[in-house]
Amino acid sequence: MLYPELFKQLESVRWDMDKDIPWASFDASKLSDEQAQTIKMNAITEWAALPATEMFLRDNKDDSDFSAFMSIWFFEEQKHSLVLMEYLRRFRPELVPTEEELHEVRFEFEPAPALETLMLHFCGEIRLNHWYRRASEWHTEPVIKQIYTQLSQDEARHGGAYLRYMKRAINKFGNEAKTAFAKVGVLMASARRTAQALHPTNLHVNKNLFPRDTIQSRLPNPEWLEHWLDTQIRFDAVWETKVVERILHNLGLLLNQRFNSVQELNRYRKEIGKEVASTALPEPQVKPA
Ligand SMILES: [Fe+2]
Ligand SMILES: [Fe+2]
Repeated sequence: MLYPELFKQLESVRWDMDKDIPWASFDASKLSDEQAQTIKMNAITEWAALPATEMFLRDNKDDSDFSAFMSIWFFEEQKHSLVLMEYLRRFRPELVPTEEELHEVRFEFEPAPALETLMLHFCGEIRLNHWYRRASEWHTEPVIKQIYTQLSQDEARHGGAYLRYMKRAINKFGNEAKTAFAKVGVLMASARRTAQALHPTNLHVNKNLFPRDTIQSRLPNPEWLEHWLDTQIRFDAVWETKVVERILHNLGLLLNQRFNSVQELNRYRKEIGKEVASTALPEPQVKPA
């Protein structure tokens, strides 16, 4: 079981909402309306850990270790939402999201293969770590800069915890896990070649609710994410490359391979696919009587 060890590790570095945020250093002259608006949107997207946790618990019914870890992840993600709301409550109370706005991002995700979802969230944490690092640089008000730095470090630790579960999955499921991780890795590391930001909150997760079946589509301003990335925090090709490199580096360590590009990962994905196909048991032939 990984849960007891992860609990200990994450508990030992956990920050305190009152003591570790330098609330007294707030400088009103350094926070623009535009910047404050983006904090509201991030507070709502962090709240989306709620439906994600409901999905994780539903799709991992046979895995009590991972489900127990969800209690830590869920707590920390809700705390991210809360600290952003606390900032707004103190300094821009008119921008605190309403309970209805928060509840709007709670909707059912369709069941999905657990291994693919795990990899998807691993990549999501890496991406968010980089987005928040950029957000911290973009903001000018010292308290919110510090908050985004704290959040980015938490996201990196979440990625590390998911990676532990991925390692465990490879030991348990072998090629089935490798196939799932390589497949989602190719998708998530290809963001530069798609128009859309690839993060779990930006993926369609329930076709019955289409097009309102992404977290981003249910925000008060659904166009916000692209604007935040392109013109506000300016998450450019240099930063995008850092995300891709981190995904490829970690996946390389996990799979004992070296991936210098998404193309190389894709090649590996195809090779593993062939291996799986050649070792699969032939379909039983049922002859009509
Ligand atoms: Fe978070
Ligand atoms: Fe996270």
